[in-house]
Amino acid sequence: MNHISKLPNVATTIFTTMSNLAKEHNAINLSQGFPNFNSDQKLIDLVVKAMNSGFNQYAPMLGALSLREAISTKFQYLYQSTYNPENEIVVTCGATQAIYTIISTFIHADDEVILFKPAYDCYEPAIAINGGKSIAMHLNYPDYQVDWKLVESQINQKTKMIIINTPQNPCGTIFSKADMLELERITKDTNIIVLSDEVYEHMVFDGLKHQSACLFSDLKERTFITASFGKTFHNTGWKLGYCCGPEALMKEFIKVHQFNVYCVNHPTQIAIAEYMNDISTYTNLPVFFQHKRDLFLDAIKDSKFKSIPSQATYFQVLDYSDITNENDVDFAKKLTIENGLAAIPLSVFNEDNLDEKVLRFCFAKTDDTLLKAAKILNSI
Ligand SMILES: Cc1ncc(COP(=O)(O)O)c(C=O)c1O
Repeated sequence: MNHISKLPNVATTIFTTMSNLAKEHNAINLSQGFPNFNSDQKLIDLVVKAMNSGFNQYAPMLGALSLREAISTKFQYLYQSTYNPENEIVVTCGATQAIYTIISTFIHADDEVILFKPAYDCYEPAIAINGGKSIAMHLNYPDYQVDWKLVESQINQKTKMIIINTPQNPCGTIFSKADMLELERITKDTNIIVLSDEVYEHMVFDGLKHQSACLFSDLKERTFITASFGKTFHNTGWKLGYCCGPEALMKEFIKVHQFNVYCVNHPTQIAIAEYMNDISTYTNLPVFFQHKRDLFLDAIKDSKFKSIPSQATYFQVLDYSDITNENDVDFAKKLTIENGLAAIPLSVFNEDNLDEKVLRFCFAKTDDTLLKAAKILNSI
């Protein structure tokens, strides 16, 4: 059969490659971004309760109302920002579906989308499938600062969207208030839509504050925020997330969502809605993950790896340039095969696979796993 691929350059992702390699060599897997500990038993019990209570058929298209209300309450509590559960919030199959739906709703052939690299890997394929063009702005290791004047210089008639990810995977950095004000300034009086991927919003450390796009009134009016319950509540396998934005934009989003998935998993929505009534389920997360970051960094402080503590997310990047000149993909494979520890080479997130001799480690793992991983890093 003959067909023309819409994604000719997409192969198996590095996450699959490294996880398979980790399995094959019985290595500790700090590569993929998911916890190796269970979701709270209380939440699991609530899912069972929802199933036993009959929430086993299609959910409402926009999501269970109780969950949309809980999300709205959370925005009010954390950011004093209002999203109407009736028409400004939609529950999605993870943040990934929200992101894909936003892009496919608005990107037409030849539209340009500005994004920042290193970047999470689901944005560019979605842009390409819809005929758009990614305009990548490189953020340099180690501080990953944005040059907003340069970003501004890329804006033209074709610029349809800017995608930001704060807190940022894989760098572990956040956009400051000044960054968000710059973004607000350069998009003011334009038709540019902003997609703000905020899946790590609850994992911000050292007293820093997550600068959600909803805190900036002009920005909010052009922005979709995407979020992931999988990241927040340690159950990435449930693939539940949401998207919110101003009514006029959500109206278009919903048209596509309706024929893409229509609605998503019902009992988990009912359970999470009830679970979130206790705000400590998400307000405790910075302390929980900062403990893990500190444990990991303290355990490797005498190793040859160089680090700047992550400001946020559950990723820590480590610079191995004092150890070898090898490229990062080869070094990551060697670390897995010969030393029994899997990580992700940063070059796979970069434009033209720029190699800055940095690996990403996921610290959403039990303390015991992190200490075992640290022992390996100390031995290199
Ligand atoms: C930055 C970022 N956005 C989105 C996602 C996808 O989230 P979900 O699993 O809810 O689809 C991830 C998952 O790793 C991520 O790191």
